[in-house]
Amino acid sequence: NNNIKKSLPLFGKKAMVSAGPTYEAIDPVRFIGNHSSGKMGFAIADELVRLGAEVTVIAGPTAQKATQTLKRIDVVSAEEMLHACSSIFPEVDITIMCAAVADYRPKTVATQKIKKQENELVLQLEKTVDILASLGRDKTENQILVGFALETNDEENYAKGKLEKKNLDLVVLNSLNDKGAGFKADTNKITIFNKALERTIFETKSKTEVAKDICAAILKIIK
Ligand code: CTP
Ligand code: CA
Repeated sequence: NNNIKKSLPLFGKKAMVSAGPTYEAIDPVRFIGNHSSGKMGFAIADELVRLGAEVTVIAGPTAQKATQTLKRIDVVSAEEMLHACSSIFPEVDITIMCAAVADYRPKTVATQKIKKQENELVLQLEKTVDILASLGRDKTENQILVGFALETNDEENYAKGKLEKKNLDLVVLNSLNDKGAGFKADTNKITIFNKALERTIFETKSKTEVAKDICAAILKIIK
């Protein structure tokens, strides 16, 4: 059994995967969130375990559960996810930032429930930290960093831009234009770009199968 484990391609490697949405509080009862289900992140985490890696999932609010044995850290906000990811990052060989992190959060969080106004209510939002970009700045020579790009238009250019700006080794483009792709579905359609900006287009498949394709692309560049 131990010998089988040792023969797995990611034996001895540590990996971190972020999954799900983040919730940004408005007041004690409300938040700003998004439709991310966490399915893709957990599918990737499970696949990394199957390949022999020691995996930690940083999970935003999601009902998703891992099927494999792994470590899980639950967080709610982008700020909490930033702290969890940053603290673990120095110890891991492979990081996959799959979470749909909020780009903005309410500038102030009301301590009491906000009462209905006479007319409109204006919420002021401030930017959150780009966790992936921050990890990209801290990345060392032998760490692999993978990001996602969720796009609706001019998708290839935006995806390549994210790969370069955030210092990634791979970017997984998730185009919302493709049928069977996206948040709630059990299937996904992806295109992967590597650092040389070489493109691999994949068919629509189950998120479990997509996770295998992403991990295979990681195995190809592993140091
Ligand atoms: N990401 C992150 N921290 C944020 C926002 C995004 O780590 N505050 C990560 C996501 O997990 C994903 C990648 O950045 O891996 C790209 O996210 P995406 O929303 O597609 O791109 P953004 O850079 O946020 O740009 P935009 O939303 O304007 O397209
Ligand atoms: Ca974003």
